[in-house]
Amino acid sequence: MTRLLENKNAVITGCNRGIGFATLKLFAEKGCNVWACVRCENKEFEKKAETIAKENNVWIKPVYFDLGNSEEIKAGIKQIRENKEKIDILVNNAGIEQQGGFFQMTPMAVFEKIFKINVFAQIEFSQYITKLMMRNKAGSVINLSSCAGIDMTGGYMAYSASKAAIISVTKTMASELINYGIRVNAIAPGIVETQMSRGLTDEARENTKNSSLMNRIGEPEEIAEAIAFLASDASSYMTGQVLRVDGGM
Ligand SMILES: NC(=O)c1ccc[n+]([C@@H]2O[C@H](COP(=O)([O-])OP(=O)(O)OC[C@H]3O[C@@H](n4cnc5c(N)ncnc54)[C@H](OP(=O)(O)O)[C@@H]3O)[C@@H](O)[C@H]2O)c1
Repeated sequence: MTRLLENKNAVITGCNRGIGFATLKLFAEKGCNVWACVRCENKEFEKKAETIAKENNVWIKPVYFDLGNSEEIKAGIKQIRENKEKIDILVNNAGIEQQGGFFQMTPMAVFEKIFKINVFAQIEFSQYITKLMMRNKAGSVINLSSCAGIDMTGGYMAYSASKAAIISVTKTMASELINYGIRVNAIAPGIVETQMSRGLTDEARENTKNSSLMNRIGEPEEIAEAIAFLASDASSYMTGQVLRVDGGM
């Protein structure tokens, strides 16, 4: 495997499982050091991270904070800053799903809960991290959107809207941060085999699966590969883009 991210330092949120864990593992294999952001202290995760770090000769530092809590976000940033290392990459991966919900039936409280984590917390965290990146006049930010934020998908109103908002956030960030050498792109996965997609109804999983040319659900590792590409210098002429990774939906 090429060490595509050798000597780079990345911040990745939601590292303990799913797409975030696959990204952490792949980044380490590609030579990248990682601040692995996780919501709650987790000894089992720490052990796994330690093994991955040793096997790949990189460092992985767990950073614990809840994206739903501004004070915790600030404490997480403080911990990252104290390391006094440059930050090359930010992967805004953590997110929450919605267990169904049609337009007319979605209470405002659900919109608020989903937008708080999937949009507002991503913006707040990115503001802090990109301020640190700006010092080096370089960086790559990857935001996790979703095909649900692009296509017509009835029944997941708040989630789809939050993922559409992230596309707009990505484009605005890209246009402003390019002045500091920072590229900002989004990934829009189709349906991926993680705890999040297991919450979908069988019908929704089947429909999404059948609407992809490959007739299957994606693996977290396949999304991680696309994230690594956008994080690396291999995508040096890309910014403000949304890359679909969806098996041809
Ligand atoms: N799976 C799919 O089909 C799919 C499709 C399109 C887009 N995506 C997007 O891809 C990203 C990763 O999804 P996934 O499938 O890997 O989901 P997942 O397995 O459910 O993992 C979500 C991650 O986000 C973390 N998280 C949630 N709320 C948090 C909070 N308040 N503070 C800190 N961390 C929090 C979770 O931590 P805990 O373990 O503590 O909850 C977990 O690590 C999400 O943004 C999702 O919307 C997924």
